[in-house]
Amino acid sequence: MVEWNQPIDEITKEAFHNLQIKYPDGDTNVMQAHYESWANTYDKDCEGLRYNGPDVICDAVDRWISASDKNECNILDLGARTGLVGKALRDRGYRGEMTAVDFSQNMLDQALKGRQIYNVAINHCLTADNPLPIEDEKFDLVVAGGAFGPNTIRANCLPEAFRITRRRGYVAITQRLSEKNRPFLDMMDSEINRMIAAQEIEQLETKPFTQYSWICEENETEQLKGRLLVFRKL
Ligand SMILES: C[S@@+](CC[C@H](N)C(=O)[O-])C[C@H]1O[C@@H](n2cnc3c(N)ncnc32)[C@H](O)[C@@H]1O
Repeated sequence: MVEWNQPIDEITKEAFHNLQIKYPDGDTNVMQAHYESWANTYDKDCEGLRYNGPDVICDAVDRWISASDKNECNILDLGARTGLVGKALRDRGYRGEMTAVDFSQNMLDQALKGRQIYNVAINHCLTADNPLPIEDEKFDLVVAGGAFGPNTIRANCLPEAFRITRRRGYVAITQRLSEKNRPFLDMMDSEINRMIAAQEIEQLETKPFTQYSWICEENETEQLKGRLLVFRKL
């Protein structure tokens, strides 16, 4: 099911194809292979489609983390891919230790290549049965830009993101907001509501934003929506 008008120019059309049409439904191995093969063109595709996720995450964490805490803030970028979110955070003045987790070594290689973003890179496939090799409460902030999804990091891994976050620390997540993604968003919401009811987390923000946009016809733009979620661990 494709819910959007395609881009008008050929290069962005190909980026759209990689992002939407080529996106496989499948198990973890299928997704891993997809990401391994996409690493070289991912940044270019994001540029063509005016990917806005990293800026939205940075704007959000800037609302909660004081300027003086930025120097010390110990950050995990979950599903870091080529490091766009990590780079955006560095550009905003986050100087603490930054760790990348991704199950695609090609993506991590791109993230590390010529970029002084991450202090630590961990190749790990996160599932409910395969928790992160990280001690409890290590991070002040966990960011996950587009990493939680029906075929990527599943909703039942949400508690794991909070396990490694210190008390009063933050978790910021962006996700696709689309009809196709609705069943997954419902699963996320029930996991979130369960943790809120158990007083494990507090939801600070939830709002839609334009995650990607492109020109689809003369003087017309199309957009793919996302949603931003920000939490504090209690
Ligand atoms: C949509 S991308 C995230 C993009 C990146 N955060 C950004 O904003 O540019 C999802 C990333 O998560 C990784 N990934 C997907 N499922 C994963 C899993 N179960 N464990 C670890 N990494 C995973 C993929 O390799 C991919 O790089």
